[in-house]
Amino acid sequence: MHQDIKTVLLTEEQIQSKVKELAAQLCRDYADKDPVLIGVLKGVVVFFGDMMKHMEIPCQIDFMGISSYGSGTTAGKLQLRYDVTADLTGRHVIVLEDIFDTGSSLQFTYEHLLKKNPASLKICTLLDKPERRREGVTVKADYTGYVIPNDFVVGYGLDYDEHYRNLPYIGILKPEVYAK
Ligand code: IMP
Ligand code: MG
Repeated sequence: MHQDIKTVLLTEEQIQSKVKELAAQLCRDYADKDPVLIGVLKGVVVFFGDMMKHMEIPCQIDFMGISSYGSGTTAGKLQLRYDVTADLTGRHVIVLEDIFDTGSSLQFTYEHLLKKNPASLKICTLLDKPERRREGVTVKADYTGYVIPNDFVVGYGLDYDEHYRNLPYIGILKPEVYAK
């Protein structure tokens, strides 16, 4: 795996310190709100678990699944794979995402969750690639870890063709890996 990485963009240490910072902001902003953290599977799992460990306030978790990318890096059609099970009516909801890329996934997620009448709905993303934003995307991230350049990254939950999710850091793949 490691030999397929061209550059390490964010080290494990950098990611961990950013996660603590983001969780501390959420703890401050949601201290008395008993928020529901919602993870959008699968890319978010590592970030989600790390964030949870630093949430020192009462909170609940839930997950939803949507498919955005098929195999490889080409965008596929968006569809809901699994819905949240918690009743979000009147709840303070925070969507956790691994990466805000074209924004299609977050737009879809946001609109879907808004229909469940939450008291508030905010977005927290570890990574943001603003250069890639698709026209017509109106959602914004309320909490952002790192703004990154327009490179395809893997690791810390992010995949290429369902692999590399288990790398503890975030790296840029060597171009020849896509060519395979
Ligand atoms: P969006 O709908 O284009 O914003 O894409 C969001 C989803 O696409 C993420 O949750 C990832 O699963 C995937 N994605 C976008 N950019 C990357 C990347 O650089 N590496 C790996 N997955 C990515
Ligand atoms: Mg993916």
